[in-house]
Amino acid sequence: MTTVIKNGTVTTHDRSYKADVLIDGGRIIEIGEGLTGDEELDATGCYVMPGGIDPHTHLEMPFMGTYSTDDFDSGTRAALAGGTTMVVDFALPAPDGQGLLDALQMWDNKSGRAHCDYSYHMAVTWWGEQVFDEMKTVIEERGINTFKHFMAYKGALMVNDDEMFSSFKRLGELGGIAMVHAENGDVVAELQAKLMAEGNTGPEAHAYSRPTQVEGEAANRAIMIADMAGVPLYIVHVSCEEAHEAIRRARQQGKRVWGEPLIQHLTLDESEYMNKDWDHAARRVMSPPFRNLKHQESLWAGLQAGSLSVVATDHCAFTTEQKRYGVGDFTKIPNGTGGLEDRMPMLWTHGVETGRLTPEEFVAMTSTNIAKILNCYPRKGAILPGADADIVVWDPQKEKTITAATQVSAIDYNVFEGKTVKGLPRFTLTRGHVAVHDGELRSREGHGEFVKRAGNTPTNKALSKWKDLTAPRPVQRSGIPASGV
Ligand code: URP
Ligand code: ZN
Ligand code: ZN
Ligand code: ZN
Repeated sequence: MTTVIKNGTVTTHDRSYKADVLIDGGRIIEIGEGLTGDEELDATGCYVMPGGIDPHTHLEMPFMGTYSTDDFDSGTRAALAGGTTMVVDFALPAPDGQGLLDALQMWDNKSGRAHCDYSYHMAVTWWGEQVFDEMKTVIEERGINTFKHFMAYKGALMVNDDEMFSSFKRLGELGGIAMVHAENGDVVAELQAKLMAEGNTGPEAHAYSRPTQVEGEAANRAIMIADMAGVPLYIVHVSCEEAHEAIRRARQQGKRVWGEPLIQHLTLDESEYMNKDWDHAARRVMSPPFRNLKHQESLWAGLQAGSLSVVATDHCAFTTEQKRYGVGDFTKIPNGTGGLEDRMPMLWTHGVETGRLTPEEFVAMTSTNIAKILNCYPRKGAILPGADADIVVWDPQKEKTITAATQVSAIDYNVFEGKTVKGLPRFTLTRGHVAVHDGELRSREGHGEFVKRAGNTPTNKALSKWKDLTAPRPVQRSGIPASGV
């Protein structure tokens, strides 16, 4: 059976034009005028765009004594409802020595429920021979080329600089990409202890314990370590000017470094933590925390100027009940917020509707740029013959007010509650299957497939001078003073 999307404007990362899109067997087979198919979807007045790719989710993740509540079922349904057709989740080995392949098995056991396609990043939560060895298998056999390092969460997921340097060097050899959560975990731990000792136990102290300096310092450190290791670097959830500045500078110097802001940091600010309602503030506890408007403006400017490349969510959703584990001790509030369903409408509303971004830039930031970085373009992130029919038919006139009462996510609140968005999916297609039909969700559990991303491609090469540093150099002197010892 063929499906045709008729009378829309095809919008990709580089251009927009009127055309119909014909789909068969889950793929785009033709783009042109006057096409017909067995099933017709009317896209009059709509943009026909590559489905969104959210490269940063934590579905059913064991974290801070509990599991994030949205799993591969509710999480991917939420994604599709908001126009996202692929998620990339983090497979996390337990830091007490669990192997990478073991952790992937755990993730495979969960991801079978996915309603849309998905892939994984691998986390490196400890360093040793087993991790060194298994990295090769993860890249070459499992098709996962991205490895995340937590520079924060001391005593849990955090890796030290020596572990990070070893891991980065190995990735450089294998053609992988390093990723970091950039916050100085040692400083955060000390500030947390100080705040608690002073009786600052509420959720607002979470923000006090993670000032922008801890993020800027870690971003700079990771960039320099990546440069010495000869590996490209992707910095997740960039929330402030200090980290953005480090990325900007690195890119100007010709280093291959990418920055990923989140829709939450682009649209919500630190005043959320000052809310008198404990639940309100705790529900917004995530790392890094929301910042002030100056930092928000920096992130928007980075997207406009191209120094920041991708907008994600870091979707890691906990219920109010889970957030309350931290009553009396803010360090025990599970870190994370939702956003999968709202990323695209919020970015359209605050980016395209306001004139900050063009529709083509919107496609680049929500889909194409990350497909290229992760090495799944043009199968994903493209409207081209042969590409997967992961498509969102975007109605720029459609409006709604975001509320937990009607969301797909399994948690009991929404950090964007009460915000009105303009720009929503009319249809969302996942490999040709119409998962959102005129706004109604018709997705199928288990439809999602794992997307393998081959390891070694040109974009996986660092642009640093690292070869100069490691190349054999002539010995200048014997090491023993001429006069003898
Ligand atoms: O607070 C956050 N971001 N929770 C999810 C885990 C992480 O750090 O990405
Ligand atoms: Zn993180
Ligand atoms: Zn995360
Ligand atoms: Zn299907």
